[in-house]
Amino acid sequence: MKENRGSFSGKLGVVAVAAGSAVGLGNIWRFPYIAGENGGGAFLIVYLIFVFLIGVPVMLSEFAIGRRAGCNAYGTFKRLSPKGGWWLVGLMGIIAAIMIFSFYGTVAGWTLEYVKKSICNDFVGQDDAALAQIFGDFTSQPVMPTVWMIIFVALTSLVILFGVEKGIEKVSKLLMPILLVLIIAICVRAVTLPNASKGLEFLFKPDWSSLTFKGVLMALGQAAFSLSIGMGTMITYGSYIKKDTPLASTAIEIATCDTVVALLGAIMVFPTLAFLGAESAGGPGLVFITLPAIFQAMPGGYIFAILFFLLLSVAALTSTISLLEVPVAFLVDEFKMSRKKATLLSSSVIIFLGVFCTLSFGLLSDFTIFGKTIFDLFDYTTANIMLTFGALLIVIYVGWFFGRKKFIEELTAGGKGNVKLAKFISILVKFVAPVGIGLVAIGSLVIGGIV
Ligand code: PHE
Repeated sequence: MKENRGSFSGKLGVVAVAAGSAVGLGNIWRFPYIAGENGGGAFLIVYLIFVFLIGVPVMLSEFAIGRRAGCNAYGTFKRLSPKGGWWLVGLMGIIAAIMIFSFYGTVAGWTLEYVKKSICNDFVGQDDAALAQIFGDFTSQPVMPTVWMIIFVALTSLVILFGVEKGIEKVSKLLMPILLVLIIAICVRAVTLPNASKGLEFLFKPDWSSLTFKGVLMALGQAAFSLSIGMGTMITYGSYIKKDTPLASTAIEIATCDTVVALLGAIMVFPTLAFLGAESAGGPGLVFITLPAIFQAMPGGYIFAILFFLLLSVAALTSTISLLEVPVAFLVDEFKMSRKKATLLSSSVIIFLGVFCTLSFGLLSDFTIFGKTIFDLFDYTTANIMLTFGALLIVIYVGWFFGRKKFIEELTAGGKGNVKLAKFISILVKFVAPVGIGLVAIGSLVIGGIV
């Protein structure tokens, strides 16, 4: 199986593709509103600790076993440990990938609509109340949000189907730096708005009393979501990494890129929110309301808005490609399905579930399970339960069952890379990450009363 797999072009290729998966709506759309709802500064500190002490070791564990087995998330466990039920971890990851894409596709569809709205100059002269109205009016319709979602899933399928990942790799290497420059320019405008300091204070001055146990769990869930870990994306991508690429430093670079973009995302949003005088800092509509407001306060805002939403769609696309690749690799490897059939089957399931997620903002907004709409339920359950639990089981597997020698061999590509760093990471994988995730999980169950 290993022989006919494609592979990434060395270390830079790995970092670019995995960072493409990590950087997406999770950074720009999800991070600001989750941080806002959970206390700002204190949440941010806990988040940073989780990214580097837990996220990086989990990502490396995934790369290591994926490359070792040369296989999809389920098959990796099945091949490395044929006995024992570890393959269930892989299977849970594949289900998580499908569920994440189902609600992620809704938001990715919104970004396409916002490209259109930017071109049509729909935001000009609108205050924050009107912008919130525009967002609500659009997302609560039944047809257009669903159409955009389907278009987005179809676009992702096309990329996977024609195997133009290499093309996408090139395109995103060119476009993502442009997105970064745009974001920095928007940040400069955001922090120079009247009242911006209040927003920055919220983000950078930790108020520990505002952080709950549930907030700590959400920080861990957000870290896993944003790094694309705990569900098999990085296992699958690991299987495409060449044997002679040392892994250890790659994950640190990917996590750093991802964190910088999330931080910049928050720096765009909170000062703008303070400028608008809006009280609440929550809800999935947050960036879709604050960003059009800031574009109006920028010279060249019309062009900025179009470019920004366009590049945000591309960033989302490099993430959805990595999501779809998880079930597709599974079906191709395990059921000997053709890539075409596997892609069509996976994307049909995603579109089916995606319709319910999309309609959660309109027709189905009153339909709730455990007090959550289908969209919220998918979002909450995947990030905070499935990815967290998946990450826990992955580090337990690698730390305690896979074998330390093999792990260090993978991290250093047989001794080429930094051995000291690899040894340190193996300790994080064996002790720090499992205990950390375990404590958060138990703590939120017992103290937070979260199911
Ligand atoms: N990390 C992506 C983002 O932040 C989302 C994602 C999660 C992608 C899990 C793949 C796997 O947008």
